[in-house]
Amino acid sequence: MSARRGFYVAIDGVDGCGKTTQAALLCRWLEGGFAEVLHVREPGSTPVAEVLRRLLLSPETGTLDATTEALLFSAARRELVERTIAPALARGAAVVSERCFASTWAYQCVASEPPADAISFRAATAAAHQHARPDLLALLDVPARLAVARIGRRPLDRIEARGVDYQARVAAAYREVAAPGGWAAELLGPDAIASIDASGTPESVWRSLRARVAQRLDALGVEHDRLELT
Ligand SMILES: Nc1ncnc2c1ncn2[C@@H]1O[C@H](COP(=O)(O)OP(=O)(O)OP(=O)(O)O)[C@@H](O)[C@H]1O
Ligand SMILES: [Mg+2]
Repeated sequence: MSARRGFYVAIDGVDGCGKTTQAALLCRWLEGGFAEVLHVREPGSTPVAEVLRRLLLSPETGTLDATTEALLFSAARRELVERTIAPALARGAAVVSERCFASTWAYQCVASEPPADAISFRAATAAAHQHARPDLLALLDVPARLAVARIGRRPLDRIEARGVDYQARVAAAYREVAAPGGWAAELLGPDAIASIDASGTPESVWRSLRARVAQRLDALGVEHDRLELT
């Protein structure tokens, strides 16, 4: 099979919820059905967006205003979507992104105190996704304490260092993003958002994720007959 159109999945959720683990499994699986699979992470995956990533995640950056942060994350997103993701989709590639605009909403617009300006964020998100939007936003839902425990003892980046109460507010904000009728459903369409219980083993999370991805491929009419469903 050669894919008739591209397919763009974003995997999001609190630090340590399992995004990188599941993105790797998803990419390997999609390689069975797409000639090109692109694995990207936000912020980053272009030279300028990686510079913004270092700035945003380095503890040396210190405190930033939440709206400034939201706009910097959105600028990195615009750069990645415009220069890398949209052209890949036009070639018929499958794109798997670790994080997306839902992160900026949860961390900067809800969990930060004071929060980022939501109107500026929504305008910047519209700009970032002017030419491509995720076909599926998979939100990995785990209690913040479990996610923090999974991260273990590695050095924390500037945002992870904000602590477990902040992470709990972030996790709650993601649940709002997943709620039907919210603005994310307005942006992507109600069937494009999947909340996945990510508290089980990596294998059980992967089975749930794969089922939702297959369902979405079906709904969009993307052929995926060579992708194993069992
Ligand atoms: N379902 C799971 N159960 C237990 N441990 C897991 C599970 N999924 C991933 N892990 C482990 O938890 C840690 C964090 O997982 P991973 O790096 O995939 O999360 P992440 O969401 O990408 O984190 P970050 O936000 O830091 O990038 C890793 O050590 C990983 O091996
Ligand atoms: Mg990761």
